Amino acid sequence: MLNVQYIIVLLFFFIIAKLMKTISKTHSASNHPSNLPKSYPIIGSLFEISGNMKRYVQWTSDIVTSNPNLTFSLFWPFGQQEIFTANAANVEHILKSNFHNYEKGELFRSSFRDFLGDGIFNSDGENWKFQRKVSIHEFNTKSLRKFVEHVVDTELTDRLLPFLKNAADNKTVVDFQDILQRFAFDNICKIAFGYDPEYLSPSLPHEKLAIAIEKALKICTMRFINLIPGLWKTKRALNIGTEKQLRIAVKQVREFAKEIVRKKKQDIKGKESYDDLLSRFLSSGHSDENFVVDIVISFIMAGRDSTPTALTWFFWLLSDHPQVENEILREINRKSSETASAYDEVKDMVYTHASLCESMRLYPPVPLETKAALNDDVLPDGTKVNKGMKVTYHPYAMGRVEKVWGKDWVEFRPTRWLEREAAAEKWRFVNRDVYTYPVFQAGPRICIGKEMAFLQMKRVVAGVLRRFRVVPLVVEPVYISDLTSKMKGGFPVRIETRAEDESAAKRDPSNRLRPVRRSYMSFCLFYMYVLAHYYIYYCVLQDYYLIIEIDFFFQNIYFLSNTECAIFDN
Ligand code: HEM
Repeated sequence: MLNVQYIIVLLFFFIIAKLMKTISKTHSASNHPSNLPKSYPIIGSLFEISGNMKRYVQWTSDIVTSNPNLTFSLFWPFGQQEIFTANAANVEHILKSNFHNYEKGELFRSSFRDFLGDGIFNSDGENWKFQRKVSIHEFNTKSLRKFVEHVVDTELTDRLLPFLKNAADNKTVVDFQDILQRFAFDNICKIAFGYDPEYLSPSLPHEKLAIAIEKALKICTMRFINLIPGLWKTKRALNIGTEKQLRIAVKQVREFAKEIVRKKKQDIKGKESYDDLLSRFLSSGHSDENFVVDIVISFIMAGRDSTPTALTWFFWLLSDHPQVENEILREINRKSSETASAYDEVKDMVYTHASLCESMRLYPPVPLETKAALNDDVLPDGTKVNKGMKVTYHPYAMGRVEKVWGKDWVEFRPTRWLEREAAAEKWRFVNRDVYTYPVFQAGPRICIGKEMAFLQMKRVVAGVLRRFRVVPLVVEPVYISDLTSKMKGGFPVRIETRAEDESAAKRDPSNRLRPVRRSYMSFCLFYMYVLAHYYIYYCVLQDYYLIIEIDFFFQNIYFLSNTECAIFDN
């Protein structure tokens, strides 16, 4: 009986697979060159999308960089088409020349509305313009100086450095990704709302809020890239699964933000000058509490993830490039003897600046940026865009384009951003076109916090490296991304105190702590199992393609039915 069922199931899949192969031949031949994901009517490239969800950023990057015009179309189920591009001319067109045609779009806004409301990250048109106008004041030179000299420096000297000293003294393993995130969270709350959450305290409190933010962000991202669009709406109506979790998480985050807003309203009563962003918004006549809460949440999102992500990858790359670390140390020592103020010290750290740019070229904190077209359009490379289509530019791929960065694009080489001024024996920073390197976005919506981010990162690098060495305890970190580029499972490191007279040049790179490589036994066994599995199928059915199709089908079914959160498991 079992055998008959087995044969019927196989026969069914045989017919489906053959049918799809025939259909796909016609479909592919007319629309796609061979290196593109296979696409079928109705389901589009469902199989390949779901099979590559765990490395979605790298997968789309490989495809886009292997196409001569650096652009390709991905077909999602139910006829949705998304254009991916790493072509600088296209990026300039989307972000500047035809800016008004490319918005966040309704799909993005509705996916994130429960969490971000109408905050700056989730708004278009007049609403966005108003928030941008008010916020921009908070990022002038005076505020930035205050930010570095009071906020960042206090957090560094009172919290981060004592924490690292303690870790070095006790030889404890530290998740540096988590520590940097706590550091940035305290910073953004202080500068934007004048509130100190003390998230980087010695006990490393399990901050409920940070967990709720993380969860809300992941679930909203899942809504946005769900294979079955709109499925989340049914789940939300029924208040089940991830949608139920989202509701709880969002409630927590909004309660926290409401509390900050209420306190601030009390604080600014009778005041005439305002020294943080929230006071400025409240004094601009916006009394609608929900709207101000939306603004607060967007700024928390802007500040808490971006710089820690950038610094995590930076410290990892640095640990493998002692000559770069050495040069940075020389710059730090020279600057600290030349200037007294923290702001002036970091402002002109040219080599460190170049190293950070280089690190973000390989690991941009925001690896993908998606827009929606308001009207039909044609991109400069000739790609047709239909109204409502998703258009994604790909900073992660753009840092890997050989034509732009050269054959050694894979190398972490800060000098590609520098020129030697022979007479003065100094480095000079050579900026790149913002559309070739859109790590901070570009055009009217360019990141407001770009300068603030660089100042903060350079201050952390100088403060940490002057006193400590950060020694990774991972052989090769695994890249994952929800909205930002993270290390899967964190970044475990050991902190070592640097001797007063020590220069990185004296250091023997082989001293780096390298844990014993993970055993590959289980991996080999798994592969042997897969090979045996295919061999048996082959002997029985004599149709290799059918085997592949069936297996892909089962893998995708397994992927879809198991969990839609699979791409996010840390
Ligand atoms: C390495 C650090 C950072 C990177 C790579 C970065 C990158 C970006 C990117 C790609 C965007 C566009 C996002 C979108 O429209 O979806 C953006 C927007 C924004 N960023 Fe940053 N950011 C960084 C740090 C910061 C910091 C520290 C702040 C300070 C609060 C900040 C504030 C903002 C704001 C308010 C926007 C919205 C701008 C608008 O829509 O007009 N960013 N950033």
